[in-house]
This record gives sequence, structure tokens and C-alpha cells, in this order.
Amino acid sequence: VSSRMLSTFVGGRSGQWRIERSSAVVGLALPTASHLAIFENEPGTRALEQESWVLRGVTSYERYVHATEQARLIAIQPPLQRPQATQAALIPVKKSADWWRLPQDRRRAIFEERSQHITLGLRYLPAIARRLYHGHDLGEPFDFLTWFEYAPADAEAFEELVQALRRTEEWTYVEREVDLRLTKRA
Ligand code: HEM
Repeated sequence: VSSRMLSTFVGGRSGQWRIERSSAVVGLALPTASHLAIFENEPGTRALEQESWVLRGVTSYERYVHATEQARLIAIQPPLQRPQATQAALIPVKKSADWWRLPQDRRRAIFEERSQHITLGLRYLPAIARRLYHGHDLGEPFDFLTWFEYAPADAEAFEELVQALRRTEEWTYVEREVDLRLTKRA
């Protein structure tokens, strides 16, 4: 469980990740950029040359995980920045006002009991390393910035997971989603 970390994701002409593709899954796309720079623990006031877009998110406490799920996650989730994980996905997601109006127990029921987000996700660990950033309370265009790192050999499995999640009831509340795929610069 990490402490609060405000991070800035900048699409532009520089950064440690090359943007291989960027597609709008639902709603508006992001402006075109060739590279992604990530500033951890920096509010990102630093102006970057030729930046195309800037997204911010903060790590936070877990809202939905139950104790047994948390134990399973902790037991098998890998760290970020593994040398073999040269591919990544940044998937910004915005959920609808209907979602945010629901009480916590209803959201949990949709998220896990009916969509099996955690159950499904756990099957892809330890291949996929992940981190969730929240943007909702920052007034950001996306409620979540989801970040994943994996080895090229696991890219297909990751694709399968993403497709499965998009078919769930949880995803009927997604009103904007952009899918960026990246490779680490040598
Ligand atoms: C790699 C396997 C995955 C695992 C183990 C996993 C696990 C989780 C867990 C435990 C949470 C809840 C955190 C909390 O309690 O607040 C969560 C939230 C979330 N995940 Fe995943 N996830 C995975 C993959 C994905 C993928 C591929 C996407 C996007 C396509 C995604 C998008 C999200 C979003 C948007 C949330 C926030 C949901 C909300 O708070 O409404 N996850 N994930």
C-alpha cells in the first residue's frame, strides 16, 4: 500500500516511453503525441517543450477490495519497473455521473460481485504490474489513470483482459476511455 503520490503524465515529444498507439475507446481521443513523460511526486508545473496534453492523478487508498482479495493481491502483484516489462498501457477512464451517485455498496457489487474485476485481474498476475491514479477529486478530465507494465510475451494476455473488462457491467458506466500503448525507450 503506497502513500499518496501525485503524478503528472505528459504527452509530447520527450519522455521515457514511446507512444505506439493511442485510440479513443469511448468518447474523445487525446491529441497526438509521440512520447510520454511521467513525473512522479511532481505537480507538473514544469513546462515541457512541445507538450500536447497533461493528465494528473493521485494514488489513494483502496475503496473496494475486501481483506481476502487484498491478501491475494499483495501475495502475487509484481512491482513496477521490472527490466523485462518493456511495454506499458496508460488507460485513462471517466465514469458517468450515474456511477458517482451510487452508494459505495452498490458500486462494490457492480465492480466485483457482478463484473468480477478483481477476480479477473488476479488471473493476469504476476505478468501484469499495475498502479491506479485517481483524478476525480482533482477536477481532472479523467476519474482514473490506469497504468500497466508487462513483457512483450504477455501483451496478448493483457489484450484479452482489457477486452473482457470492457464487456462487464462496470464498463457500462464508462463514458470516456482512451487506450495508449507504449514501449520503453532503450
Ligand atoms: C492487471 C490486472 C488487474 C487487477 C489485479 C486489477 C485490480 C483492481 C483493483 C483491486 C481495483 C480496486 C481498487 C480499490 O479498491 O479502490 C481496481 C480498480 C480499477 N481498475 Fe483494475 N485491475 C486490473 C486491470 C485493469 C485494467 C486492464 C483496467 C483498464 C482497462 C482497469 C481499470 C480499473 C479502473 C478504472 C479502476 C477504478 C474503478 C473505480 O474505482 O471505480 N483495471 N483494479
